[in-house]
Amino acid sequence: MAADASIRSQASGVTGGTAAGWSDRFEQGLHPAIERFNASIGFDLVLLQEDLDGSIAHARMLGSSGVIPAEEASRLIEGLEAIRAEAATGNFRPGLEAEDVHFAVERRLIEHLGDLGKKLHTGRSRNDQVGTDVRLWLRRRSDEVDQALVRLQRALLAQAEAHADTLIPGYTHLQRAQPICLAHHLLAYVEMAERDRQRLADGRRRLNVCPLGAAALAGTPVPIDRRATAAELGFGAIYANSLDAVSDRDFAVEFMATASLVMVHLSRLSEEVILWASEEFGFVSLTDRCATGSSLMPQKKNPDVPELVRGKSGRVFGHLMGLLTMIKGLPLAYNKDFQEDKEALFDGVSTTLASLEAMAILMEEGLEFRPARLEAAVGADFSNATDVADYLAVRGVPFRQAYQLVGALVKTCLAEGILLRDLPLERWQALHPSFEADIQATLEPRRVVAARCSEGGTGFALVRAQLDLWRLRLAGETTS
Ligand code: ARG
Repeated sequence: MAADASIRSQASGVTGGTAAGWSDRFEQGLHPAIERFNASIGFDLVLLQEDLDGSIAHARMLGSSGVIPAEEASRLIEGLEAIRAEAATGNFRPGLEAEDVHFAVERRLIEHLGDLGKKLHTGRSRNDQVGTDVRLWLRRRSDEVDQALVRLQRALLAQAEAHADTLIPGYTHLQRAQPICLAHHLLAYVEMAERDRQRLADGRRRLNVCPLGAAALAGTPVPIDRRATAAELGFGAIYANSLDAVSDRDFAVEFMATASLVMVHLSRLSEEVILWASEEFGFVSLTDRCATGSSLMPQKKNPDVPELVRGKSGRVFGHLMGLLTMIKGLPLAYNKDFQEDKEALFDGVSTTLASLEAMAILMEEGLEFRPARLEAAVGADFSNATDVADYLAVRGVPFRQAYQLVGALVKTCLAEGILLRDLPLERWQALHPSFEADIQATLEPRRVVAARCSEGGTGFALVRAQLDLWRLRLAGETTS
């Protein structure tokens, strides 16, 4: 007894330690540098609302399952709501000594309610608590990413609808390949965003599983009702295995992988916009709303927005790799390494959301396509050469032979400095008797595009049908 008392007095006498969080087994406080190193309060206050939600559900369940009297549960809930109100007015500012958001809330509750506040942690651990908080937080943010994807899809669709008749060169290897409909090009990004949405929705099912009640790792002898807390918090299921519950971070990896693909798509679109805005392409002009100037060169208008999006993609990929590496060597069950998941998730989510928003604004009001430049570009090249070969092929010439013939013809034209459209009919017929007067019209870029009517192709009629389909699909989406 005497020894216990002296330990207690030593523990409370130390400075720079987390005396409140630990049991009386601790004699000394933490080294101040270690206290800083250990603490997550500097970043995990982001989880405050979710921590309060989780604790309220837990308190209610403790009352309803008879672990504590119902009246005590009500007072715990009132105390937690009082902390929410304090936070709303900026009066909840825990310091380093709180270590993390979970301890900070519990401490404050004890300050409000005295010994009753000490009952909140019955039948749970910070291990299942933090897992619950992070899932609740990511579920909400993942839904925001989904909404941001819909906004981008709408912006792309609006541009596509405005350019259902505009042509743009299509490229392979960044070499002119075949002319395409600009709307078709833009709709390709709408499709990518749709797959991103599907991946989010799929990941959300696995994210929406509740670990609360797994306690530290093995479950608890306290007669808790895990299904009650899970239902109150809107989870679709509970973890079947307590060890898995407190040590699963697959959902964080899955989310970051999905976010990485979102960023890949945004980065590819960014790269195209940057090229299109260059003097060399001149396919778009940037509006003043989304372009920046140079501090030195007065003539410049820079595509900073797509450049930043392209650059920020690396941050998100880095978080994915960081999470995988952080998890790969961890024995079951909880390890403090998991605390490192937070900054990765917080930054990964905010970077992805900010990039999606910037790209949507760029599409909504940041760029204007230049139809005259596009029109001139599609007419002035050999991207209709395949159509000449196809022309012969449908008239019975073996394709490979037609291909060779046209290749030689392109070579001759290049030497003469002319295009296929400049060749008179006699020269076509000298090349092959199957050529007739309609070859001239066949070469016309609009005809070239219209002719590509295989399913999924760029033919105008098909693209219009796709535009109709997307308009309907996106009209059904509600965004905040
Ligand atoms: N701040 C910790 C984290 O983010 C909370 C859980 C701590 N659990 C523990 N057993 N030390 O992971």
